[in-house]
Amino acid sequence: MKPSRSWMPLLALCALLLAVLAMPAHAQGLVDAMRGPTPIASESKAPLLYPTENKDIRRTRNYTMQPPTIPHKIDGYQVDKDFNRCMFCHARTRTEETQAIPVSITHYMDRDNNVLADVSPRRYFCTQCHVPQADAKPLVGNTFIDVEQMLKRKPGVKGSSN
Ligand code: HEC
Ligand code: HEC
Repeated sequence: MKPSRSWMPLLALCALLLAVLAMPAHAQGLVDAMRGPTPIASESKAPLLYPTENKDIRRTRNYTMQPPTIPHKIDGYQVDKDFNRCMFCHARTRTEETQAIPVSITHYMDRDNNVLADVSPRRYFCTQCHVPQADAKPLVGNTFIDVEQMLKRKPGVKGSSN
């Protein structure tokens, strides 16, 4: 049976879609930074594992509410329902001995802002928000500008002056 004329645009669209899907990912302009241009059927080379930075120097926060990045190694630290290794040092009561920065008051607050006696369940799994860092090449570009720099920029200039 010959397709009726009204079906033609739809058929053309399907053909185009198939053609696009058949193209390799990088030709479509899709880039998976982890995978690179490796086709789906092949295995990509595992990226190098960079050692965790362990300088014990607190880093600048990029904005006021940023969860600070972890300046020390956390390999093998147990954080589960039985024990929280992070709180073993970062709890209010532990800081004299450990010299760790106590978790801030927000970590003891529930969602209605009631301050609890212990760390709030929603802040229990620390690595949900806090992550260690490695001196590695970033996988994707970043145009983030600190608000302090934004405030100093000349009118009409998008980014910073440098
Ligand atoms: C053995 C004690 C100890 C343990 C365990 C520990 N920390 Fe720390 N942490 C410290 C100390 C001390 C510092 C201060 C900087 C330094 O010496 O590394 C610190 C700094 C930090 C900071 C930086 C805070 C800031 O204001 O810049 C974060 C975030 C942090 N730790 C998170 C964690 C998380 C998450 C865990 C668990 C996965 C953890 N820590 C486990 C002792 C500890
Ligand atoms: C839901 C996200 C989240 C989770 C989970 C979380 N934090 Fe934080 N943390 C933050 C944010 C945001 C800040 C900065 C603002 C603030 O203090 O609330 C912060 C601040 C901190 C600081 C710096 C405190 C200060 O006064 O400078 C430490 C230390 C810290 N967190 C440790 C921890 C530890 C240890 C855990 C696990 C028990 C944890 N955090 C769980 C988001 C989180």
